[in-house]
Amino acid sequence: MILIKSKTEIDFIRASNKIVAETLKLVKHHTKPGVSTLELDQIAEDWIRSNGGVPAFKGYKQYGTIDFPGTICASIDEEVVHGIPGNRILKEGEIFSVDIGVLKNNYYGDAAISIAVGEISEEKKLLMKVTEESLYKGIEVAVANNRIGDIGAAVQQYVESFGFSVVRDLCGHGVGRKLHEDPQIPNYGKKGTGALIKNGMTIAIEPMVNIGTYKVNVADDGWTVYTADRMPSAHFEHTIAIINGKPEILSVS
Ligand code: MF3
Ligand code: CO
Repeated sequence: MILIKSKTEIDFIRASNKIVAETLKLVKHHTKPGVSTLELDQIAEDWIRSNGGVPAFKGYKQYGTIDFPGTICASIDEEVVHGIPGNRILKEGEIFSVDIGVLKNNYYGDAAISIAVGEISEEKKLLMKVTEESLYKGIEVAVANNRIGDIGAAVQQYVESFGFSVVRDLCGHGVGRKLHEDPQIPNYGKKGTGALIKNGMTIAIEPMVNIGTYKVNVADDGWTVYTADRMPSAHFEHTIAIINGKPEILSVS
């Protein structure tokens, strides 16, 4: 069931997403060669808690065999999403994808960015740029009376025009009192399909884009999703609300 939120509820979701956006900025600021993903995880957790929030992914049970142990999802290069923060040290030339969720006042925020570690290859730069732009292509068509399938169609068309591929196994989602609500928001599909987009919907759009195959696997840790061909991947995510027929990005600082 797709829940329609009141203005007050959207204000709470906006507040949680503001903390998410600030935390992403902070992590980006501290991202450089030589830093471990666990150090960045700690910086993120401190900021979230000092702002009255709770890290939303910590203890999350949905996918893995173990509960997710981190505040951030830290995914490097061929790791697509859901990487576990640890002692791995970031190296020049890597793509560092960071996903953050915050719970505050019983409402969630969720957003993600990919960050270049030092100087990266032109191909990786293009992958990151196209992934971020594809998110905005999806957001643009998230207007009242369009359909959820229009979002994925816009993302897919844009991504594939550069010869990159869109991950199929993971989707965006509604956001509210739960981190993952209906509807699922695939990053591929057909225009004119899926649920009608309505005012008061709050959704996370999160294209995961690969240089090579769209196929992915899950690592032995039960969490880390990586590309089947081990080629690089990028991920950008915003939570948006449909207000007065138009998308408003909530995950901004
Ligand atoms: N943005 C990701 C998602 O919506 C974050 C989930 S990580 C988890 O799937 F730890 F919460 F699973
Ligand atoms: Co999400």
